[in-house]
Amino acid sequence: MTTSQHEISAEMQAIEADARALVAEGNAPELHPRRDYPPYRSSILRHPTHELVRADPEEIERHSPAFGHSDVSPLESDLTIQHNGEPLGERMTVSGRVLDGEGRPVRHQLVEVWQANAGGRYVHKRDQHPAPLDPNFTGVGRVITGDNGEYSFTTIKPGPYPWRNHLNAWRPAHIHFSLFGTAFTQRLITQMYFPGDPLFALDPIYQSITDPAARARLIGVYDHDLSVPEFSLGYRWDIVLTGPKSTWMESEEAHD
Ligand SMILES: [Fe+2]
Repeated sequence: MTTSQHEISAEMQAIEADARALVAEGNAPELHPRRDYPPYRSSILRHPTHELVRADPEEIERHSPAFGHSDVSPLESDLTIQHNGEPLGERMTVSGRVLDGEGRPVRHQLVEVWQANAGGRYVHKRDQHPAPLDPNFTGVGRVITGDNGEYSFTTIKPGPYPWRNHLNAWRPAHIHFSLFGTAFTQRLITQMYFPGDPLFALDPIYQSITDPAARARLIGVYDHDLSVPEFSLGYRWDIVLTGPKSTWMESEEAHD
């Protein structure tokens, strides 16, 4: 972990310059992250190097847990009421729609989130950095999308946190999202970020998407109409599953 931010930033800038040159030559912009993105150090060893093994979805379903619509309580979309007291932090309402490439709503889909607390700490044994745990915040929630593909969570704004990609590496504040689809083999995972984060330019996970427009689609938009008076600030974030405006989805192995 002796590589400096300066060195990582130089690597990221060189890769982005190469990507820009490819687009200038007429190649399509890269809408998804590079699986092998050396500034994100662990991607060097864990990116796929072989074709994916195609699994039979029916066979997988015979061994996987199942859930029904009635298994998800409406209360599970509120991450601020899971304990006896209120969690610390800036309370937020995060809402949006899940859409397909034609803009059609993706209805009745399981959307799950997990996130750090306001101090940037996860409730996880591998997260031992010296930020406080919040006894009133676990940081997980789920909801089923409605008839218009809409979802909404009540939560608190997560803090940025350090990780060990390089010396003084910090992740921009983000919420992890999982979209289950209709079977385990369809599950997609991504991250939502917040406007104006000064860490964007420094973060190899965010920068592993070389197309600036695709990166920008991961940032929620502050929406004053979503803010609840005297209660929460509203952020809107739509998730588009396919097509040129699709939301970047990460590989199964990435959990940072
Ligand atoms: Fe994270």
